[in-house]
Amino acid sequence: MASVVHVTSEVVPYSKTGGLADVSAALPEALTRLGHRVVVVTPMYSIVDRASQGIRPTGLRFPVSLGTRSCDFAVFQSELPAGTVVYHLECDEWYGRSELYGTREGDYPDNHLRFAFFAAAALRLVRELDLRPDVIHGHDWQAGLVPAFNRLNPVGSAGVVMTVHNLAYKGLFDSGAVSEVGLPWDMFRPGQGGEYWGRLSFLKTGLVFADAVTTVSPTYASEVLGPEGGMGMDGILRDLGDRFSGILNGADYGAWDPSIDTWLPARYDRANLSGKSVCRSHLLETFGLSEPNGPLFGIVGRLVAQKGYDMVAACLDDLVASGGALVVLGSGDLAVEESIRDAAGRHPGRVGLRFTYDEGLAHLIEAGSDYFLMPSRFEPCGLNQIYSMRYGTLPIVHATGGLEDTVRDIDEVPSGGTGLKFRSFESSELACAIRRARALWDDRDAMARAVQCAMLQDFSWEKSARLYGELYQRVAR
Ligand code: ADP
Ligand code: GLC
Repeated sequence: MASVVHVTSEVVPYSKTGGLADVSAALPEALTRLGHRVVVVTPMYSIVDRASQGIRPTGLRFPVSLGTRSCDFAVFQSELPAGTVVYHLECDEWYGRSELYGTREGDYPDNHLRFAFFAAAALRLVRELDLRPDVIHGHDWQAGLVPAFNRLNPVGSAGVVMTVHNLAYKGLFDSGAVSEVGLPWDMFRPGQGGEYWGRLSFLKTGLVFADAVTTVSPTYASEVLGPEGGMGMDGILRDLGDRFSGILNGADYGAWDPSIDTWLPARYDRANLSGKSVCRSHLLETFGLSEPNGPLFGIVGRLVAQKGYDMVAACLDDLVASGGALVVLGSGDLAVEESIRDAAGRHPGRVGLRFTYDEGLAHLIEAGSDYFLMPSRFEPCGLNQIYSMRYGTLPIVHATGGLEDTVRDIDEVPSGGTGLKFRSFESSELACAIRRARALWDDRDAMARAVQCAMLQDFSWEKSARLYGELYQRVAR
């Protein structure tokens, strides 16, 4: 069994902008349950509700210096349900803000300092507490400097793993950041250094100085080795050879299961789906929609180009013409919001929109919809389609990345389909999938079979956590 320190910028239930937060709690917890010794280190954002989350001061404080700057950190502690200890690093200068990474106007301009200090403080904590981990496991660009800092000043003999949750986020900063964050210039070289087209990439720095790199599904792991999926990092990833692999995310069924979900007006399971109808009615009512003649489609997600919602806007007339209705919950890019709002304006009473972040409503949409739409351009793993299956809500997905790995098409696998897929990223293809969804919805027996099959799928974390455990064994020195 390994001793592992996860370094991550968001963790449910303390802070969250997307799936990284879910994974940063569920994976450490699954590893803890397998018997590994696991701690999680994360920033103490001022928006975190300390009192209700059982977060308390440890009394430990230390200064961290980078470049010409020095900051004092205070360490707080809490525990996740299975016992994983979470250390929260407080430094108001960096994390005392209204958001995690930036506002609607853009990213915080000092994010390089915020997350360089985070990486350095996380390593300092490991030393202060004498944790002696076998492995330090960093997530995404926000932890990207952990491998480099650990090379410069190693914390014992720990091996370092980096997980890329999304190659679109490279943590790019002007080259002046190199000295500001205290990196030596020889770590900023092209090729095997952090340089990316003249700028400093925290993500690339993480990839080149880690002992092993993973991403969050096998299909995404093969897509990113090509020029399109690799988004400029494919060469680096190819150079990693067998030090790079894809391990599928899981779902935390303690939080995402309709039989125990306290966010829902009624609970249900495979044997008795009557609670799902209650959720559906409640969902329609919440959005002020009347009962449609066709299926109810749901969307929950960050409104960013990756998610392909512009295609939903393009197909909305078809969706409504076939009798369907749509509810959307999302926040993010204003342009994506506008395109959905414009299209929805043509269909009063048939499309419900909420441009905000709302945990409870996300659960209600998973439960109350007939279909969950996830037409992502690319998707490293995706969690919502996995959750939706457990809620008996069939996912309609573009066959890419983790969506390809987790959903089986009802026509490709007639006796075991769990959703609908379209293979080429075009609105005519999505429109065709929506027509197939309508036809399936009319065939009550076939629909009921697919719902049963979807609800039976088991993507619990244990299997993936075992694969991480094997990786840790290879990486530990
Ligand atoms: P990504 O990490 O790319 O955003 P995932 O599907 O992996 O995509 O994870 C998204 C997570 O964020 C899910 O838990 C989803 O329910 C949640 N989420 C996204 N947008 C919202 C929102 N507006 N309100 C509530 N939850 C949201
Ligand atoms: C990223 C990806 C998403 C993945 C999540 C958790 O945000 O966009 O596909 O599920 O990370 O790994």
